[in-house]
Amino acid sequence: MKRPIAMIAGTGRAVPKRTMSNDEFAAIGIETNDEWIRERTGIRLRHVAGEGETLTSLGAEAARVAMQAAGVTAGEIDSIVMATVSPDHLLPSAAVEVQAAIGASRAAAFDVDAACTGWIYGVTVAEGLLATGSAETVLVIGGELLTRIVNWKDRNTCVLFGDGVGAAVLRRATKGRGVLASYLRSDGTLAQLLWRPAGGGVKPASQETIDDGSFFVQMQGREVFKHAVRSMADACDRALDQAKLSADAIDLVIPHQANIRIIEATAKHANVPMEKVYVNVDRYGNTSAGSIPIALDEAIRAGRITDGSTVLFVGFGAGFTWGSLVVKF
Ligand SMILES: CC(C)(COP(=O)(O)OP(=O)(O)OC[C@H]1O[C@@H](n2cnc3c(N)ncnc32)[C@H](O)[C@@H]1OP(=O)(O)O)[C@@H](O)C(=O)NCCC(=O)NCCS
Repeated sequence: MKRPIAMIAGTGRAVPKRTMSNDEFAAIGIETNDEWIRERTGIRLRHVAGEGETLTSLGAEAARVAMQAAGVTAGEIDSIVMATVSPDHLLPSAAVEVQAAIGASRAAAFDVDAACTGWIYGVTVAEGLLATGSAETVLVIGGELLTRIVNWKDRNTCVLFGDGVGAAVLRRATKGRGVLASYLRSDGTLAQLLWRPAGGGVKPASQETIDDGSFFVQMQGREVFKHAVRSMADACDRALDQAKLSADAIDLVIPHQANIRIIEATAKHANVPMEKVYVNVDRYGNTSAGSIPIALDEAIRAGRITDGSTVLFVGFGAGFTWGSLVVKF
């Protein structure tokens, strides 16, 4: 089927009110400092959900903003695809909770679990729904409350992550605008480099799993770093090849925001100067599935993406999963 099939008609984002600086970790007994975190990751701040802030409440807020930008009502949404690894409840899906919150009563709603690459996966699923005629209007939401599933005693992980949600409304492409290329990959043989060992069927949640930390996110940072750089480079090449575009034709790269050094390595590989790369990891940390759609909404509202812009999205995450999109706006 000939692309473009799906275009991004509107975007939104929502983040918790409270921000936490690197200096605040000392107060909760974490042996770290601002200089270490900034030099290794580029992160200065992250948002942390407080009382009453849930993935559902932030997801609904981001969705409402995206629907308003797209000029569609909740009743027009045919499908809600929600990318997350930190749902408010393990059953049912996060997507149905957002559906109820926004009153999208006609929609089919379900989650996509592809960690930090989740929103890119979600857009590709939405494209398929549009291609088959199963849907005309799809909400693709990506977001997390990662601060609820990290181990606040583990300095290797707790300094890296944050909370936030981004959303986009996808509709049938018009005037040649929309998704020009999509590339998705995964490698489950590497799952244990970034995972939650307990809490599922093999080792159900218990006091022991909380005490030994296996209930929370665990990561081998150095290994993850190497794979992230390699996979993001692969994903850039494949999407550009598929779209038959050279790096010069890209107006903006929106990479997953995990670490400034991974972002810089990706830009260098893709031969794109950093002026053409959107960076907000300093203000959000890694919000996993939220990272790319939050950055997209910021970039649009800041005027970094305008009519006619060609944008390369590239992500990598637990699984491992990785992928990319080229989208014309
Ligand atoms: C996590 C990461 C920042 C660590 O940086 P690094 O340069 O690889 O550092 P290392 O893991 O080698 O650790 C170096 C030392 O710093 C220590 N350290 C770890 N976290 C620390 C922290 N928050 N503050 C201070 N010291 C810390 C380690 O214990 C280690 O000490 P040791 O040498 O005495 O054992 C880096 O590996 C990374 O960004 N990896 C990718 C993570 C990621 O983005 N994951 C999500 C992908 S979607």
